[in-house]
Amino acid sequence: MVAPVAQTGYPVNSKPSLLPVQGLGNTERTDAWWLEPLLVLLAFALAGGYSAWAALQGKNYEWGPYMSPLYASPFTNVPFSPALILMWIPIGFRATCYFYRRCYHRVFFMNPPACAVSGMCTKYDGESKFPFILNNLHRYFLYLALLLVVLHWFHAVRAFNFDGQFGIGVGSLVILADTVLLSLYVFSCHSWRHWIGGKIDKFSNNAFTKLQHKAWARVTILNESHGLWAWLSLGTVCLADYYVRLVASGVWADVRFF
Ligand code: FES
Repeated sequence: MVAPVAQTGYPVNSKPSLLPVQGLGNTERTDAWWLEPLLVLLAFALAGGYSAWAALQGKNYEWGPYMSPLYASPFTNVPFSPALILMWIPIGFRATCYFYRRCYHRVFFMNPPACAVSGMCTKYDGESKFPFILNNLHRYFLYLALLLVVLHWFHAVRAFNFDGQFGIGVGSLVILADTVLLSLYVFSCHSWRHWIGGKIDKFSNNAFTKLQHKAWARVTILNESHGLWAWLSLGTVCLADYYVRLVASGVWADVRFF
């Protein structure tokens, strides 16, 4: 007797196995599927390379009320680059982010490089083995990232304080934009959404769970664009550092609007 076949194409009651490798890049897709992984690779190389270089400089990260977001830290009086004190937090947070996992699995491990495109391996242990088991730390990195958001907002507000007077310069706006985008990235996090209300089975239980439902629904709207916030916040953190660096090193004079 032939086993009935479910919509997945696998016989009912049979355990689906991973598709066999048919040669890296093999696909019946006719669109430019390779463009996305290529752009992601370029973005990782640019942002990662620039951030590492800037963090190791240890100078030109502050000018007047402006502080580079890569150096936003309460500890600056140290014998090495102050960026290194807290930099492990955003690195850990982004490296364990669900969105970035998708990106780097496609680009660096090619398992697979895109949907319906043959990849490099047939075995995937998920997050059950080292090193990917470390991805389970994401929720803890989220708690630390929330502290970073507070720190970034402190520096964003400070960027409008010119010797005790309120003012607006290009740097104020760039640092503010970076802080807003970082906040959108953190508050659209999947772990945050789960923490806010995703773990609740019945929202109508009581007044508090109803309130949680409202908050969860708003976070869900942000969460739908999580990937966008991830890229934009990665770009603006480099841009804000670059701007402060140019002004601090005298290459560029800050423009004041007010
Ligand atoms: Fe991307 Fe949490 S899932 S930051």
